[in-house]
Amino acid sequence: MYRWAGKVAVIAGASSGIGLATAKALVNHGLIVVGLARRKSKMESDMKDAKGNGRFYPLECDISNEKQIGEAFAWVKKNLNSVHILINSAGIQRAGKVTDLSFSELKQIVDINFIGLLYCSKVATTIMKEGGEESHIIMINSVVGHRLSQIPSEHSTNIYAATKFAVRALANILEKESYGGNIRVTNISPGAVKTEMTDKIAEDIPQINQLDFLNPEDIVDAIVYILGTPPRVQIEELVIKPLKAPY
Ligand SMILES: NC(=O)c1ccc[n+]([C@@H]2O[C@H](COP(=O)([O-])OP(=O)(O)OC[C@H]3O[C@@H](n4cnc5c(N)ncnc54)[C@H](OP(=O)(O)O)[C@@H]3O)[C@@H](O)[C@H]2O)c1
Repeated sequence: MYRWAGKVAVIAGASSGIGLATAKALVNHGLIVVGLARRKSKMESDMKDAKGNGRFYPLECDISNEKQIGEAFAWVKKNLNSVHILINSAGIQRAGKVTDLSFSELKQIVDINFIGLLYCSKVATTIMKEGGEESHIIMINSVVGHRLSQIPSEHSTNIYAATKFAVRALANILEKESYGGNIRVTNISPGAVKTEMTDKIAEDIPQINQLDFLNPEDIVDAIVYILGTPPRVQIEELVIKPLKAPY
């Protein structure tokens, strides 16, 4: 990780869960971290206890809003000069079947989990290519981006799973498009992780609480490992589940 100290990492979804824990770890490794999320004040207060020589800049940004993403990355380019790492951790999930959720609820999931992430990746890739330095894009995907596990069986993963399949395809596409360059792309697919997202889903589907959970730090360990591998190493995919996951 030493070679990343002083480099710029943008984390979409840095106000809680996996994104927040990653922001703390990267600051601890000496990176300049820019957090994007709607709750800027939560990023500010939760990052106060971050240790290490890095720096953290919270930017209010709704990643379902193309204009706000453009402005956020323009700020990064102007003030920090480049982007070397993008961690796409922003995401939402809703309980309910496709047939029961409203179209606007379904569209919001797609707009945040896929379109927002697509736009962040596109803008970041352009800046990374301009800079010409070693760069890395990490998608925080899901096991449901690989297969539709119905746990508990009556719970539908609805359009959320479709966005995760699409993100996995996008990661593969970006990797192919980056062939011969120095941008690495990795898709991390966690099983259940104890975060705000799973706490919120458990309000509607209490059976979720019977599952075994990973901690956000388990995913952060994988991110630090992936980034720390030599530039010649391309880790395409990591699936990380709790040992006792029945899915
Ligand atoms: N927890 C799990 O079991 C699990 C399993 C597999 C995959 N994942 C994936 O892991 C990623 C992180 O989830 P998490 O579990 O850490 O959930 P979380 O604690 O709820 O964090 C989600 C993050 O996404 C941000 N976000 C949501 N909508 C946004 C928007 N419109 N604009 C900007 N940021 C937005 C939130 O920030 P604001 O609300 O402040 O905007 C928050 O920082 C997600 O992509 C999720 O699908 C989670």
